[in-house]
Amino acid sequence: MARFHALPVAAVDRLTDDSVALTFTVPEDLREEYRHAPGQHLALRRTADGTEIRRTYSICSPAPSPDGEGPRTLRVGVRLVDGGAFSTYALKEINIGDELEVMTPAGRFTLDPAPGLYAAIVGGSGITPVLSIVTTLLAREPEARFCLIRSDRTSASTMFLEEVADLKDRYPQRLHLVTVLSREEQQAGLPSGRLDQERLGGLLPALLPVERVAGWFLCGPFGLVQGAERALRELGVSRTRVHEEIFHVDAAAPVTTAPAPAHSTVTARLDGRGGSWPVQQGESLLEAVLRNRADAPYACKGGVCGTCRAFLVSGEVRMDRNFALEPEETEAGYVLACQSHPVTETVELDFDR
Ligand code: FES
Repeated sequence: MARFHALPVAAVDRLTDDSVALTFTVPEDLREEYRHAPGQHLALRRTADGTEIRRTYSICSPAPSPDGEGPRTLRVGVRLVDGGAFSTYALKEINIGDELEVMTPAGRFTLDPAPGLYAAIVGGSGITPVLSIVTTLLAREPEARFCLIRSDRTSASTMFLEEVADLKDRYPQRLHLVTVLSREEQQAGLPSGRLDQERLGGLLPALLPVERVAGWFLCGPFGLVQGAERALRELGVSRTRVHEEIFHVDAAAPVTTAPAPAHSTVTARLDGRGGSWPVQQGESLLEAVLRNRADAPYACKGGVCGTCRAFLVSGEVRMDRNFALEPEETEAGYVLACQSHPVTETVELDFDR
């Protein structure tokens, strides 16, 4: 069950003009709770002028070994979003020593280190979880190799430039780094331009043996992830080998078209306790639960982070959008509570499964 704790900020490192890395100290008694897999994220919470805002940020630091103690520190990457309430605060106001409310790690964009060849296609801040994945994999699994294809606007706007260069120095044989800049020519490497489906379709077979890649990690803006996924599909890569995490979904949520019952009730089990509450017209199941249980888990409320995942025990729902759950999860019966609206008069959710 996800929980928030106040963690002190140990470091604020400027990465580019518009991004920082925040490092939190994890007290000894909370290290187990903050144990994370490479690729997971944290929600940060802030209340300003009586309004609570939550944002999720991926952990960029390596994951702790399963046999050792939990992490002593956690580092996340934050990029400024135009008008973004939390990112503006993070870039301009957070100082060492401040305490922030940090949710325990969540997310299924993860890698379980194993021998083999892995690859990632990332754009912009999409490097953040992949940095944790690559660092953890190469350190823990000597028989693993990684091909990291990253795209940015310019080298000055590239997050974690030094960290990735250090990794390449440390593992010159096992890390293949390919950088594409959309608005700057490089002295060496690939010509500038966007990494779209067509370009990737030609580029990937020239870079690596596509059919031997055990896991693909696609992370960044919606357009890049979608283009990469289509390119991989055209190259015959099985969907089960592709993991996706989308940052920045700009499109507005489509309006639910399924007929909604006049009166509906949601029954939810959460942290071992259950309850039943009415769902008001137009609201999501998460909103209905939150009115009665303030501890219901969520972060983005936009169908992106997956924090509100719940098992649909009975009834039927319609989701507005889903950028977080894999097809296997929806087939197994999981839904995003923040995007779900009741189609039947009663709906039963289990947040504990
Ligand atoms: S809260 Fe992020 S997907 Fe529902």
